[in-house]
Amino acid sequence: MRPQGIWRSFGLLRRAYTRSYLDPVFCRRAFQTVSSPKSPPRVPDFAFAFDIDGVLLRSSNPIPGAAESLALLKDQGIPFILLTNGGGKHESERVAEISKKLQVPLDPSVIVQSHSPFAELVHGTEEDKSLQNKCVMVVGGEGDGCRRVAETYGFKNVITPGDIFMSNPSVWPLSKVFTDYYKKFARPLPKPVDPTDPSKGLKVDAVFVFNDPRDWALDTQVILDLLLSSQGVFGTISEKNGREDLPNRGYLQDGQPHLYFSNPDLFWAAAYHLPRLGQGGFREAFEGTWAATTGGPANGVELIKTVIGKPCQGTYEFAERQLVRNRSQIFGGETAYPLRKVYMVGDNPESDIRGANSYVSVNGSDWHSILVRTGVYAGGEPAWSPKTFADNVQKAVEWGLQDSKWQITKS
Ligand code: G3P
Ligand code: MG
Repeated sequence: MRPQGIWRSFGLLRRAYTRSYLDPVFCRRAFQTVSSPKSPPRVPDFAFAFDIDGVLLRSSNPIPGAAESLALLKDQGIPFILLTNGGGKHESERVAEISKKLQVPLDPSVIVQSHSPFAELVHGTEEDKSLQNKCVMVVGGEGDGCRRVAETYGFKNVITPGDIFMSNPSVWPLSKVFTDYYKKFARPLPKPVDPTDPSKGLKVDAVFVFNDPRDWALDTQVILDLLLSSQGVFGTISEKNGREDLPNRGYLQDGQPHLYFSNPDLFWAAAYHLPRLGQGGFREAFEGTWAATTGGPANGVELIKTVIGKPCQGTYEFAERQLVRNRSQIFGGETAYPLRKVYMVGDNPESDIRGANSYVSVNGSDWHSILVRTGVYAGGEPAWSPKTFADNVQKAVEWGLQDSKWQITKS
């Protein structure tokens, strides 16, 4: 059901829109409104997917025109989702923040964050067994915000590297300068780190990097300890490590926890005028430490891991499933009104454009990449060429509406 409140505000929106949003040509076209007698609601066979950082927000500041763009799509009943490699908060919290900043009511179902797909691992998938009651270590984010997100997803036994540090600071002595920070949220471990008798000690079954780590050093040390351990028991070393007669020279062959990353972004568009290192930067740094420790690919040793987030196929599949679910709630069954096209508006060629261009839709929809100039991409020939360039999200929405021949109607 379309929220009736929006139709009342359409008049205000229209004035604001005309004044600030669009060049005169588009104003005429867009507002050559089709005022018709009560005709059945039109069902758009297209939708939009918006990246957040560098498209809608720059750090936490709204990018001009972002609010009006989302307001127009909501007003016209054109579905969209926010598809971000960001995270660190629960979807409901993040979407409430964005809703406030952009002054557009948004439902938690419209956002897909980097770690949203991890929720599916609580009860398990065909490939992965349920982790609901297993001990999982969640890395990254501010304080233990990501632990609380994981617990909201349904994980019941979640620890953080800060818990390990506070239980035994000698694990990484150089983080004692951050003791006051860790004191605020660290919890007692479900089992102690017991170097004298590790078999009775803490055993970790999976490691999730939910968001960009704040203490790369401690997190690198603790993840490395677990990947070199026997059976994920913290404080042990696997005797298989380095054995040439075993696959991967014996590394990660002894029941160590699987390592999941949620965001491949090497750089992202923050408030600073140049792109900043993202979670992909942490992963690359960890891969370097892993290679230095094990000999790495040159020595036939790989870091066995799972990386999700844009541009990965799985993240786009998860996002499209969410979009299709949302549409069928608005318009009724999926088959009645198939989704033909999704305009993916992004600022990062490596994640947004590459992902949309290479995504093979399970529904047969066409993902049309639009690259904007308000984030990571700063001009020139991008590494991954979009189907369309646009100066900003406003122009991207204008282009998509024209491309789909959508005529703006007024209530
Ligand atoms: O940490 C967030 C950053 O990696 C990119 O976020 O919204 O541009 O996918 P976004
Ligand atoms: Mg971005």
